[in-house]
Amino acid sequence: MTRREMLINALGLGSGLMLSEPLRACLPSEERAADSLRGLAAQSNVKLGVQSERADLQVEEFAQFVAQNFNLLTPGNELKWPRIHPAPDTYTFDDADWMVHFCASHGMLVHGHNLCWNSPNANPAWFPSVLTRLNAAQQLTDHITTVVGRYRGRIESWDVVNEPVVHWSKRADGLYPGVWVNMLGPQYLDIAFHAARAADPDALRVLNCYYVEQGLPEFERTRELTLTLLEQLLKRGVPVQAIGIESHLDGSAPFGGPAFLEFIKHVRALGLQVLITELDVDDTKVQGDERERDRVVAQCYYDYLTQVVPAGKTDRIIFWTPTDRWDWLDSMQPAKFHRADGKPHRPGLLDDSLHPKPAMDAVKSALRTLSGSSPVPGKWGYTSR
Ligand code: GLA
Repeated sequence: MTRREMLINALGLGSGLMLSEPLRACLPSEERAADSLRGLAAQSNVKLGVQSERADLQVEEFAQFVAQNFNLLTPGNELKWPRIHPAPDTYTFDDADWMVHFCASHGMLVHGHNLCWNSPNANPAWFPSVLTRLNAAQQLTDHITTVVGRYRGRIESWDVVNEPVVHWSKRADGLYPGVWVNMLGPQYLDIAFHAARAADPDALRVLNCYYVEQGLPEFERTRELTLTLLEQLLKRGVPVQAIGIESHLDGSAPFGGPAFLEFIKHVRALGLQVLITELDVDDTKVQGDERERDRVVAQCYYDYLTQVVPAGKTDRIIFWTPTDRWDWLDSMQPAKFHRADGKPHRPGLLDDSLHPKPAMDAVKSALRTLSGSSPVPGKWGYTSR
């Protein structure tokens, strides 16, 4: 048995495994272990994460890709209210337990997503008939106490509040005008963060923000309102410790440049950590054939990571769309998510056959640039294959 085979066996990857050749390139071997995404990220002390769901991880090749390349995982839906708390007195932990177990058995940390979100689609159908202004604080506290308490010591960080500020809010403070804000006002954030700290004081508490990354004027407003919100929360003693920058990037428009980097600087100056929590690249408006689109998406990953990670001293990067096979953009109904040519999106690191795309090479190149092991960008694109 060669040392490579021994290593594959030791990692439990050997038995009956039929891997495609491109995915084999993602497997550990003496020469490749350090070249996995997580191996490269470790050179800059960055934890590398990925969003995934229980159903996706039943695909063995994909599960192995995840275990080999990432050391952090965000369950995509298993911890959201509708899945874990489907009726007022019912919690269903099976899927979340499975995910936490998967991570523990592969040496991966878990990032919990999420405990509180005002989006109407993100909450269970029972809310309108049960929640009132009188019981909302207790309901929120009970949920967080139960869920965070169950995974105390096993879920290492939590998106305590998701998407607090939205660019389209008509409120002067920009808060997402949904159920929690309507019932409890801005205090809902205080309640959620205090409950999370009480249930697991050691889990990192994150305010997961979106619409702050790009260069459009409405993003500038969201950045300003988010900074104001953070200042107010800290002044009130709310135990927020980090912000997550979701980072669903638009491949057809440059990200926010100096104004965005300045925003990150301000957040850091408040004493907060800056994480990248949902990175992917939307190619809805990217022109050209597949190869050109893949090149643009790859470049976007490279540019974003090499600029934002140093600015934020970011030590956790989580990718939201590891493969085009389970691409959330294709499942969106509104026309603004559809490509003019009707083709499926290609935001992932792997294509829908689970073959690495140029984006994968670009991310590796970015990680090498960040660690200083190769300050010059490597090459990516199909011509180099
Ligand atoms: C937001 C949410 C995620 C997910 C993505 C789209 O960013 O935080 O939970 O719904 O949108 O998949």
